[in-house]
Amino acid sequence: MKIQTPKGTKDIYGPEALAWQKLEADIRDICRTFGFGELRTPIFEYTELFVRNVGETTDVVQKEMYTFNDKSERSLTLRPELTAGFARAVVEHSLYSASLPLKLYYIGPCFRYERPQAGRMRQFHQFNLEVYGASGPEADGEILAVGYTVLKKLKLKNIELHINSLGGPACRKKYNEVLKAFIGENIDKLCPTCMERHKTNPLRVLDCKEEKCRAVLAEAPSSIDALDKECREHFEALQKILKAYGIPFVIDPKLVRGLDYYTRTVFEFISGDIGAQGTVCGGGRYDNMLEECGGPSTPAVGFAMGMERLLMAQGLEEFRPSCGLYLGHIGEAAGEFARKTVFELRQQGLAAEGDLMSRSVKAQMKYANKIGAKYALIIGDDELGSGRANIKNMETGEQENVELDKLAEFLLR
Ligand code: HAM
Repeated sequence: MKIQTPKGTKDIYGPEALAWQKLEADIRDICRTFGFGELRTPIFEYTELFVRNVGETTDVVQKEMYTFNDKSERSLTLRPELTAGFARAVVEHSLYSASLPLKLYYIGPCFRYERPQAGRMRQFHQFNLEVYGASGPEADGEILAVGYTVLKKLKLKNIELHINSLGGPACRKKYNEVLKAFIGENIDKLCPTCMERHKTNPLRVLDCKEEKCRAVLAEAPSSIDALDKECREHFEALQKILKAYGIPFVIDPKLVRGLDYYTRTVFEFISGDIGAQGTVCGGGRYDNMLEECGGPSTPAVGFAMGMERLLMAQGLEEFRPSCGLYLGHIGEAAGEFARKTVFELRQQGLAAEGDLMSRSVKAQMKYANKIGAKYALIIGDDELGSGRANIKNMETGEQENVELDKLAEFLLR
């Protein structure tokens, strides 16, 4: 029996692999221009890191983590997200003592035991970005500017940025009380999970996807009404910064995000083109995590983009294989020459291909077309003798006669 990929995972190949390479290269380039360095963290961490930081009553911790004991009976978890591991690494290596703000990013796989559907995988990839040490709205604006730039580079349309503020600990406490009271008044209309969460973590009730709960929660009080003066000013200043950057947004007072660590700003970029799992990017400010990880009090703000969702929204049309030159041959002597020439062109950084399967001229030209060769050339004894050959532009069909020892110059002109 054939063994297949585990549920919720996938192999990436063909045009899709090209799209991944392009997306990763674009992201790295944008991070370079915005001054972000790379931090690579392990795929598994001690389970406690996520339980403490993501929040014991979140879906991620309660239902979705891949947790296992290793051979020494330590509890480990495949990372469900990257923010907690980043905070651990920043504290472990005292990265906060370098000049601030500290700006870090990473692209890597994450794991959540969720019900797979379009845009929801059990192994998925995040582009994660964090700024540490800056408490003002300028840092929130900076990371939103990176997110906006990535989405613009991908030419994604039909994207909406939703922003909200949950306030600092005092505002959150106040909001929790108001929300708890509202939920209490409507408890009979809610699902059993919401009833439970009413007691443990009322904010999580706002995440519920059940239709009957959503109808009730549409009337729930807004977190913005519970903001104190400072938090309100932070939120207003962020809006001003976004307007100055020309980044459109909507205020979404019901946006609370599914993780427990956020303070003040939360946001999501949502695509209207990829179905129910439309959130291509989510993030916000979390000013307490570093201290909770044993470091000094260090404000932080960041986001993660779902790479699979970005690629779904973008589509794969423009991704075809490409190659500068297909240099085919007929006969043994021409084969020797062609192989050497292809090797030399590659040493100069030019993408060139030759025949490895002793195919006919017709089959070689067909192959040249398949691999997206820009030019094709077949050498036989005549061409070898004269040192010249006709090179075909595969897009226009035009032919030109070229010197065989000047192929690199021809391709680079
Ligand atoms: P999150 O909202 O849990 O936030 O995930 C961020 C993004 O990862 C989502 O918006 C989505 O695009 C993608 N994603 C999440 N789960 C899946 C899945 N099962 N399949 C495919 N894509 C998925 C975080 O993870 C936070 N750590 C973000 C953050 C960084 N906040 C501050 N800094």
